[in-house]
Amino acid sequence: MSSSKPRFSPEEVTVVFLLGGPGSGKGTQSTNLVRDYGFVHLSAGDLLRGEQIREGSEYGQLIKTYITEGKIVPMEITVALLSNAMAEHLAKYPDTVKNGKKARFLIDGFPRKLDQAVFFEDTVCPSQFTLFLDCPEEVMEGRLLKRGETSGRDDDNAESIRKRFRTFVETSMPVVDEFAKQDKVISVSATGTVEEVYIRIQDGFEKRGVKPSA
Ligand code: ADP
Ligand code: C5P
Ligand code: MG
Repeated sequence: MSSSKPRFSPEEVTVVFLLGGPGSGKGTQSTNLVRDYGFVHLSAGDLLRGEQIREGSEYGQLIKTYITEGKIVPMEITVALLSNAMAEHLAKYPDTVKNGKKARFLIDGFPRKLDQAVFFEDTVCPSQFTLFLDCPEEVMEGRLLKRGETSGRDDDNAESIRKRFRTFVETSMPVVDEFAKQDKVISVSATGTVEEVYIRIQDGFEKRGVKPSA
């Protein structure tokens, strides 16, 4: 435990983490959750890809290498991108907090490593819970290869996919296991149609008392 105070207090923001293997449907289900639960969606992968191509970024080449290798980018970079995106949102919509409402952030694809989880919760904001999309590799592989036909992503190819699966099992699953020990995981089977998965997510939220926005 560090003694630093988090940048945002749980009185002004709620943070929900969204985890699951590559291709489990995190981005897809985020669209539903933004629509119905009033979440602000922040994808760690999207923020890293944005930083990778930002002119003048000192991290562009490093990020590209890590993403192609399916490795986890050093956490200081990712946490700073997320924390700044949260601050930008709050600065843009100051009335949310003034009106006694909380900003609800859905942080997709993060934390992918235990050190990121600890560092984020110590310095940015503690999470309320983690939604985990549980999906077999063969299903995720099929979805990613199909996505790769049009995504233009450097990592939607068979070799990168294999490396990303390995990183997920070895490095990211321990984060889910740790939050599960703290009883902070809603785990949902992510096979079947988008609608079927979403119904399971809504059921899981309801059981935890998480309500859709009015
Ligand atoms: P992630 O963000 O977890 O990597 P995505 O949401 O990008 O996953 O989904 C990966 C691919 O699979 C996308 O092309 C998406 O359209 C597709 N997809 C997502 N959920 C399902 C589902 N339940 N059934 C079939 N295809 C899906
Ligand atoms: O979540 P997404 O599939 O978009 O992530 C793509 C890649 O971005 C990951 O395979 C990894 O290389 C990098 N990433 C990371 N740390 C995160 C999220 C993504 O290093 N928390
Ligand atoms: Mg995604």
